[in-house]
Amino acid sequence: MTTYLVTGGAGFIGSNYIHYMFQKYGDAVRIVNLDKLTYAGNLENLKEVEGRDNYTFIRADICDREAVEEIFSQNDIDRVVHFAAESHVDRSIRDPEVFVKTNVLGTLVLLNAAKAAWELPDGSFKEGKRFLHVSTDEVYGSLDEDGGYFYETTPYAPHSPYSASKASSDMLVKSYMDTYRFPANITNCSNNYGPYQFPEKLIPLIINNALQGKKLPVYGDGKNVRDWLYVEDHARGIDMVMEKGRLFETYNIGGHNERQNIQIIHIILDTLREMLPGTDPRRALVRDDLITYVEDRKGHDRRYAIAPDKIKEEVGWYPETKFEDGIRRTIQWFFEHEDWMKNVTSGNYQKYYEEMYKI
Ligand code: NAD
Ligand code: DAU
Repeated sequence: MTTYLVTGGAGFIGSNYIHYMFQKYGDAVRIVNLDKLTYAGNLENLKEVEGRDNYTFIRADICDREAVEEIFSQNDIDRVVHFAAESHVDRSIRDPEVFVKTNVLGTLVLLNAAKAAWELPDGSFKEGKRFLHVSTDEVYGSLDEDGGYFYETTPYAPHSPYSASKASSDMLVKSYMDTYRFPANITNCSNNYGPYQFPEKLIPLIINNALQGKKLPVYGDGKNVRDWLYVEDHARGIDMVMEKGRLFETYNIGGHNERQNIQIIHIILDTLREMLPGTDPRRALVRDDLITYVEDRKGHDRRYAIAPDKIKEEVGWYPETKFEDGIRRTIQWFFEHEDWMKNVTSGNYQKYYEEMYKI
């Protein structure tokens, strides 16, 4: 049985990945989920897997060296999938320090613990051990509106404190591969959407606000472009890189699905109206005139787009889910999980929202 250490497994992508892995491999894998449970971590995301014999949750901070070393000494970890991070660009603009702590120092702690557990006396590594560092396309900076893609060879040019911290963590992983031949991969992914996404991010925020007749904040002119990827496709991509990717390589994972933010908002509004029956009182609340242009994000990257050619050629992965299907599945999930949304938007979320938006 292969034992995975998943960091940040209680967050959006991490929890989708854990569900994907148990659906695919059942009892053939064991997963240890290490998560600090920050505002973004939520054990409700993992209710269905809680009772499994081959699943363990450990609440810990990846910056806590002793706690992380203890996990490696208590468990024969074969593979690390490292999601844990502070992940929201707007929060990084307001308070960068925790991004450096978690994303940079936390990654270093994990690398050191895995290296110590996996290294043999001659400096090589035990057979089959592998560390996959989950990163972002934002490390490549911003593309022009009129064309071009991010490739694995695109030079790093991060702009926000978030992307600078992710770029630093990527560089640390690269340095461990180059210096020690530490067995790792890096994946750089575009914008994910899907179930369990916290409503500080564009898509769940717009769905949640629209259903309550609240204003829909659009930064700047609304024409910034993101390349949207359904989260389950991402989970499958990570698994395929782990299984078939060449060690020491970087793979970009993208949806080939570029949209302007304002287009995304119109698609969400149209899909909500289509999916809500006429008798549902929420239908009348979903209105285009809720769209409200607000002050632009500082340093707002204009366009992201990945050409996922390398992962397609070498690993056989491609983004299977069409946006029109993925957004319907996402909205359906939010319809069926109203309590989840209520729970995550109570308390601190309201304070965050008021300070952030003032609308
Ligand atoms: P998220 O914010 O939803 O979840 C992050 C998780 O990490 C939470 O469960 C949180 O509790 C945990 N965490 C935070 N600090 C921790 C610490 N110090 N120790 C242990 N656990 C900690 O993030 P996400 O959107 O699921 O993103 C996961 C990873 O994927 C991140 O590394 C992010 O940079 C990367 N990524 C995200 C996207 C996206 O669109 N969401 C795209 C590309 C890459
Ligand atoms: O590209 C990958 C990245 O995608 C990940 O590395 C990050 O972890 C993830 O948060 C995401 O970053 P973005 O900044 O692109 O996602 P966000 O959902 O915050 O914003 C998407 C776009 O929508 C962006 O251009 C800003 C805009 N936006 C966002 C919010 C929250 C708005 O116009 N209004 C909003 O209220």
